[in-house]
Amino acid sequence: MAEHETRILLLEGIHEAAVESLAAAGYSNVESLKHSLTGSDLVGAIGDVDFIGIRSRTQLDAEVLSASKKLKAIGCFCIGTNQVDLDLARRMGIPVFNAPFSNTRSVAELAIADIILLMRGIPEKSARAHRGEWAKTARNAYEVRGKCLGIVGYGRIGTQLGILAEGLGMRILYYDIEHKLPLGNASAVNSLDELFAEADVVSLHVPETPVTRNIIDADAMRAMRPGALLINAARGSVVDIDALALALETGHIGGAAIDVFPLEPKSNQETFESPLREFDNVILTPHIGGATEEAQYNIAREVVAKLVKYNDNGSTVSAVNFPQVTIPDHENRRRILHIHRNEPGVMEQINRVFSTHGVNVAAQYLETQADVGYVVMDIELDDAGPLLDELRAIPATIRVRLLH
Ligand code: NAI
Repeated sequence: MAEHETRILLLEGIHEAAVESLAAAGYSNVESLKHSLTGSDLVGAIGDVDFIGIRSRTQLDAEVLSASKKLKAIGCFCIGTNQVDLDLARRMGIPVFNAPFSNTRSVAELAIADIILLMRGIPEKSARAHRGEWAKTARNAYEVRGKCLGIVGYGRIGTQLGILAEGLGMRILYYDIEHKLPLGNASAVNSLDELFAEADVVSLHVPETPVTRNIIDADAMRAMRPGALLINAARGSVVDIDALALALETGHIGGAAIDVFPLEPKSNQETFESPLREFDNVILTPHIGGATEEAQYNIAREVVAKLVKYNDNGSTVSAVNFPQVTIPDHENRRRILHIHRNEPGVMEQINRVFSTHGVNVAAQYLETQADVGYVVMDIELDDAGPLLDELRAIPATIRVRLLH
């Protein structure tokens, strides 16, 4: 299919860099809407598009996906993908891409700001100044230089935070369940308690899992140093908020910066409720750790790059629901993408189609995931069209596509 025929629908006000990147890659048939679509509007819209780009609000559930007739891939221009029925999409031969890296720097920068502001007692001093109080004092105000930062979860964000904080002269300890290479002068510790015993600031950067649920509870906070500061820009389930409120009340926790909550308002019109609202020494932010213009721009470019690569080359690297195939470009050859149910004998049937026609397969890349197999084949044949019908006739075939 010529690129201008590829129809792309973007919803939810995706950054204009997406349309620009698509245009630069030769895709101009793009409709970009500021809002999300629901119900019959979404069902109607998805029917004849090749690609759809969404953020977190658009629900691509079984009913909506089933209405798609030629959808090739889904771009989630965000981090989370639970708004898409990922298993069904895979079974329909539709890879889903997202942007897991693009906003990590933004989160690390917010954590740095939180650390400096909390160390100086700025949230409380600012709140009091707003009320007309003049709280000029150096008491309990500290530089971050020389203090110990304990990072829980030394992944994409945790490592960046460690490097930035080290640049400010902090000593970095980290705890991770995986063995992680220390960057800079950071040191790994073997347990959370070891980290809590030393850290002046504890910053959480773990995913939401059954193990991380309430990983910071009353016991954990008791194990922290008196006056320790706590930062959570990971997931709301990671901290027991009632226990935190108690620890703030007793002063054992000296301050906190919380960006994510067990219960968050669904829209900006809803009121934010939390027992932490009453504490002046807590920075409360509305889940904006990764919300910057730069992150939105980077997300747009990252997801578009993945969609274009899939359409032009067949690569599914970093698809969240799909067998991952990395492939070089296919100059001077025809490339066929074959997505099939992962059943015994399928590859033999595919190869038989080529051998019957005496066609040389120059390269073949196969990966499977759960119930779906994805094979990319480069063949030396100018007119590959007639073979496609035979490949489609293989009973386990989900879809077949010829790349130009
Ligand atoms: P990542 O996957 O790169 O790193 C997470 C690290 O945590 C990994 O090294 C993993 O081994 C480790 N880990 C997992 N379970 C653990 C446990 N029980 N104890 C200690 N370590 C454990 O993830 P990334 O990109 O650094 O994100 C971290 C968190 O930040 C995630 O929860 C993510 O959802 C959240 N996030 C929040 C944003 C916001 O707006 N506030 C924006 C982006 C991410």
